[in-house]
Amino acid sequence: MTVNIAIDGPAGAGKSTIAKRVAKLKNFIYVDTGAMYRAIALYFLRMHIKEDDCNAMISACKEALITIEYQNDEQIVLLNGENVNTLIRTEEVGKMASISSSVKEVREHLLELQRRLAREKNVVMDGRDIGTFVLPNANTKIYLTASSYVRAKRRYEELEQKGIPCDFNQIEKDIIDRDYRDMNREIAPLSQAKDAVYIDSSNLTIEEVVRKILELC
Ligand code: DC
Repeated sequence: MTVNIAIDGPAGAGKSTIAKRVAKLKNFIYVDTGAMYRAIALYFLRMHIKEDDCNAMISACKEALITIEYQNDEQIVLLNGENVNTLIRTEEVGKMASISSSVKEVREHLLELQRRLAREKNVVMDGRDIGTFVLPNANTKIYLTASSYVRAKRRYEELEQKGIPCDFNQIEKDIIDRDYRDMNREIAPLSQAKDAVYIDSSNLTIEEVVRKILELC
């Protein structure tokens, strides 16, 4: 039997940074399910599929083979064999991922890959529906969040550091819109599993959150 840790929460709550650290400390595999949805979204954008064209997404997702590899502990997402790790980290792809992930067939396309990884390896898996739907029997479930202001501030500072011009109010608005879409879609919306531990990271450091999760495992 493998050990599975599920971390769900809204965009920008620090899930990936924290999940990566917990995975490293426990010698588990880190599985970023958002990256899988982003890779499919990149495929849709390349096919010039419109945000409201569900039917086109349903047929196109069958052509988008998503696989995962690990190089030096880093998850590499392959879209039809192409490493798309850096290409999927744009706002445009994130928005398309949030929209296209509400399509049932898109979610079904990725579900088996996610469950298989968790069956075969000890994993820390992060996303929106891991504790509620993908791995309902996960050994530890965390719901990690932070206020939209704090999440926008973190994103703003990250972009500023990279020298990318940005507008704080627009970033916060995008975060609020994304939360709304992710929490209000019909299939597997973002919500806290009944048996998940709620952690608000607004006033906690990364180390404090990691320590809390390790105590819970
Ligand atoms: O975590 P992220 O920002 O990389 O995720 C991008 C989008 O993918 C997110 O807005 C919603 C979707 N997603 C999902 O529906 N279910 C998951 N388990 C992970 C991500």
